[in-house]
Parts: sequence; C-alpha cells; structure tokens
Amino acid sequence: MLEIRPVIETDYDAILDLWNRTGLHHEPHRRDSLSAFQQQLRHYGDCTLIAEANGKVIGSLIGTHDGRKGLINRLAVDPDFQKQGIARRLIEAAEHSFRSKGIEIITALVAVSNLPSQMTFTKSGYVARTDVIYFRKELKS
Ligand SMILES: CC(C)(COP(=O)(O)OP(=O)(O)OC[C@H]1O[C@@H](n2cnc3c(N)ncnc32)[C@H](O)[C@@H]1OP(=O)(O)O)[C@@H](O)C(=O)NCCC(=O)NCCS
Repeated sequence: MLEIRPVIETDYDAILDLWNRTGLHHEPHRRDSLSAFQQQLRHYGDCTLIAEANGKVIGSLIGTHDGRKGLINRLAVDPDFQKQGIARRLIEAAEHSFRSKGIEIITALVAVSNLPSQMTFTKSGYVARTDVIYFRKELKS
C-alpha cells in the first residue's frame, strides 16, 4: 500500500538511505545535514514529501518556495519502484501543497544528462526553458 505524506524528522536516515540507493546527488555534511533537514521541515514541512510502501521510504521530494515560485528538489524513487508513476504522484502532491499557498509557478533544476528526470517533469507538464542561464554563487564562510 503506497502512501504519500509529509516528511517528519525521524524519516531522515531512511531518506539518506533512499538517496544512496538511487545515486541521487546530495550533500549529507552540508545542505542535507540533519540540522539543514530540521530547518527545512520548520519552514517547508508541508511541501516536503515521502512515498512510503509497507513502512519503507521509497520516494522523496523536497519542496521549497520564495513566496512566489516553488522549487522541487531531491526527487528520488527507489530503483525497485521506478516507472510506476510514483514520482508523478509526488510532484502532484507537492503542486497541491504549493497551490494551497497561492503559488502557481513551480520550477526544478535538472541536469542535462538526467534524461529520466527530464522525462518525468515533461510528462508532468513542465516545459524546459532553454533561453535562460542558471547563475550560481557560493558564499564562503
Ligand atoms: C527521475 C525519477 C525520480 C523518476 O521516478 P519514477 O517514479 O520512475 O517516475 P514515474 O514513474 O512517475 O514516471 C513519470 C513519467 O516519466 C517517464 N519516465 C520516468 N523514467 C523514465 C526513463 N528512465 N525513461 C523514459 N521515461 C521515463 C515515465 O514513463 C512516466 O511517463 P508516463 O506517465 O507517460 O508513463 C527516478 O528515475 C529516480 O529516482 N532517478 C534517480 C534520482 C534522480 O536523478 N532524481 C532527479 C533529480 S533532478
């Protein structure tokens, strides 16, 4: 039985385990540390979702927003459960949560090489922008 639900703090280890199983890029000592995860839940708890099957975490989606646009991060589905529509369901649930906050534009950054993810977002109605460049700066401490 599959359930999509908001993440709680005790899901942290299972989510890291999922990301390791899927090969999803993540940074457990920085942006994906336990303290960063706790902060994420305080600010965006209802947009941060997992898919669970028989008590096992098999999917994740971290949602954030700036009050105007939503951003989908860390979308991952256990390899044994891929291509069964689980990512699509996670995306739909996150969209529902964003919409309830008045946010109607949702974005995602996907590597050019990640065709499964590109297919997933395309099939969920997302359109790739090819006319913008992603600028990024890391503030050193
Ligand atoms: C990307 C990922 C989350 C997709 O999860 P998923 O549960 O298999 O996706 P879904 O089953 O919901 O697929 C949604 C649609 O995309 C298509 N799709 C998904 N993976 C695909 C693939 N490898 N090749 C072609 N189409 C694919 C599905 O066929 C489906 O289309 P349909 O509804 O017309 O059948 C999963 O492959 C994954 O965890 N990859 C590793 C982690 C990762 O790279 N995450 C993305 C970071 S941006």
